[in-house]
Amino acid sequence: MKDVKKLDLSRSLELFEEATRFVPGGVLGARKPSDFIEGEYPIFLEYGKGSRLTDVDGNEYIDFLCGYGPIILGYREEEVDEAVIRQIRDKGFCFTLTQRYQNELAKKLTELVPCSELSVFLKTGSDATTASVRIARAYTNRIQVMRCGYHGWHDWCVEMKGGVPEKLYEDVHEFRYNDLDQLEDLMARYGDQTAAIIMTPFGHPLHQKMEEPKPGFLEGVRSIGDRYGAVLVFDEVRTGFRLAMGGAQELYGVTPDLVVLGKGMANGYAISVVTGKAEVMMAAGQKLFISSTFFPNSDGYIAALKTIEILERDNVLDNIWEKGGRFLTKLREIINKYDVGAELTGVAPMFFITFKKDEAGAQKGKRNDFYTQLIRRGIFFTPHHHGYICYRHTEQDLDITAKAIDEALAYVSEKYQK
Ligand SMILES: Cc1ncc(COP(=O)(O)O)c(C=O)c1O
Repeated sequence: MKDVKKLDLSRSLELFEEATRFVPGGVLGARKPSDFIEGEYPIFLEYGKGSRLTDVDGNEYIDFLCGYGPIILGYREEEVDEAVIRQIRDKGFCFTLTQRYQNELAKKLTELVPCSELSVFLKTGSDATTASVRIARAYTNRIQVMRCGYHGWHDWCVEMKGGVPEKLYEDVHEFRYNDLDQLEDLMARYGDQTAAIIMTPFGHPLHQKMEEPKPGFLEGVRSIGDRYGAVLVFDEVRTGFRLAMGGAQELYGVTPDLVVLGKGMANGYAISVVTGKAEVMMAAGQKLFISSTFFPNSDGYIAALKTIEILERDNVLDNIWEKGGRFLTKLREIINKYDVGAELTGVAPMFFITFKKDEAGAQKGKRNDFYTQLIRRGIFFTPHHHGYICYRHTEQDLDITAKAIDEALAYVSEKYQK
């Protein structure tokens, strides 16, 4: 059994111990050690470049989390960073009023994203999903919301309910991805009071395998929304500027009323947007208040404009689909060699290796051993979240990764031999 040595993570652990004295739990949310494999993954990073990360102990990784999604080009992409630095140095980015880049970016979105007519810019994905629901409620004068997928940490949709009064989410009903019947049932009960159906158009549920839309699913949701007069919102915080320049709505040919974009739009800088049909979006200008000190800051607009320029100029998404497609084909061959219950789901730009439930209940052990073997080999995937491919992943990165996955599965296969 070809095991490899555990990483030296002593500095990460020291910093974590210090962090627990100043920050509740040391680090928050999805960055907690318990969201990885405790003792095997670093907790603090020092720097990154391209597809690579280096932790505070000097361990280097080929990274497939891409900052949990915003890194579509690569870490420290010079053209984007230079554009932002120039803006900050020569003009400034935080002012009393709005700078003109808002208009440029909103106009660009109308060219790229099928449903885009009017846009409201914010900072985070959670800001934007929450704004989209508020806009839909104001437009329809209705309260109920149907939702499918992770939409961030705000009260109406957060998974962990601690600190959230029930009344703040009691009008929000969850339906399963690819389950049109369940949505039909919910709408039969609440349809005439439903303001919005908000969903990820591609299935990427937390901790679980990924799902593409079954034939007719997205079209079915679209027609249910129309039938009941509910606003259809696609949450494309992960899929926007990743599956296609116009997002999953372009890839699958189903146009929502509103879409929420964030992450990949600006290669790591904070900006998000709700964009969509003018009639619905007008509610945002007339009936409600969306504002933050930081929403007009232009660093995010500049980063987004430059990122989009590069994505178009260098056909970045074609590159990701092509090399990612070859990589996934190779991974499928490797996975098929080992009878350990590993499953590869997703598509070239975003994919996940999970482990099927087995009779002996060994899937969790297999999964943890698999991901442990990968991180020890310097390959940064995690057991609880799918990976991404970015522009700066090289063929060599992908070859090294495929080899590591082969070795990690061989290890699991030998350890769990029946
Ligand atoms: C589909 C989706 N929607 C919304 C969000 C929330 O975005 P943020 O973390 O920027 O608030 C996320 C974040 O992972 C997401 O994946």
